Amino acid sequence: MKFTEFDWGAEKYLREGVTLPEGALTMLRENFDAILFGAMGDPRVPDNRHAADILLGMRFKLDLYANVRPARLLDPRLCPLKNANINFTVIRENTEGLYAGMGGNFKKDTLDEVATQEDVNTRKGVERVVRYAFEYARRYGVGKVCMADKSNVMTYGHGLWQRVFKLVSKDYPAIEPRHLYADTLAMEMILRPGHFGVIVTCNMFGDIMTDLAAALEGGLGMVASGNINPAGISLFEPVHGSASPLAGKNVANPIGAIRTAGLMLAHLGLSAAASAIEAAVLAAVREKQCTADIGGSLGTREAGDWISQRIRCAS
Ligand code: IPM
Ligand code: MG
Repeated sequence: MKFTEFDWGAEKYLREGVTLPEGALTMLRENFDAILFGAMGDPRVPDNRHAADILLGMRFKLDLYANVRPARLLDPRLCPLKNANINFTVIRENTEGLYAGMGGNFKKDTLDEVATQEDVNTRKGVERVVRYAFEYARRYGVGKVCMADKSNVMTYGHGLWQRVFKLVSKDYPAIEPRHLYADTLAMEMILRPGHFGVIVTCNMFGDIMTDLAAALEGGLGMVASGNINPAGISLFEPVHGSASPLAGKNVANPIGAIRTAGLMLAHLGLSAAASAIEAAVLAAVREKQCTADIGGSLGTREAGDWISQRIRCAS
């Protein structure tokens, strides 16, 4: 496997004023099979402009419409809940909704200011991600797909989700469809997380629910995601940001980033390699060969080395 590194991020932005370089997307599309993304966020760029341009830019412009975020608890001691079974996948719509950036300010910085932010839901956008969720469930033998929205309040935009979900679910008679309002979903994820298989939801709720899911698995340091375009190049990133207060201290948990590589390999059809990563991560957690946030005493580097050593021994 051949890797090419790019230095897109805060450093480059501060140095050159460039976020996502011109021609970057065509270059990625034409030359690469997948993108493995680091983490974004730098206190020197308080408005996170570079992150929005680079990450959201790639999500939108490469049409990475399904953000797949598996939630799987590796060790019961990492879960704040008692006796919980955490094994579900959130599929988050990734190209529209409240993230579309439509809206504006009127009379900005005056007492009469008006600010709007449009929730954009398209028939095409909703249908393809809902279908992706059912296909994902079918592929992995998961019997349930739950769609969460706020169609009781957002009657137009999320009414569309309701109608599309009912239609699409008819094409998958072997999979049990379920609908929850997003607030109820938040509650059910705590009370009965074991009842979920695949959850599909809009961009904003998906963002919020996957931090909640991460908390059930040991925190943001544990979790990975794939930003998928089934017909093109896809991007893989940990759910966490750069954790900049931890920079240079050798304490950040590397597992989210490592599992991200695993997700990418699985996507590329290298399932044995992906399983080897998951098995080594599981062993690291069970044997407490990990960072302090999840009960170990290793530094980032040592925790990463332990996992890579374990993979080498197993292969
Ligand atoms: C995520 C992050 C991003 C999002 C931020 C960094 C823009 O929270 O991937 O979950 O809101 O989508
Ligand atoms: Mg988030």
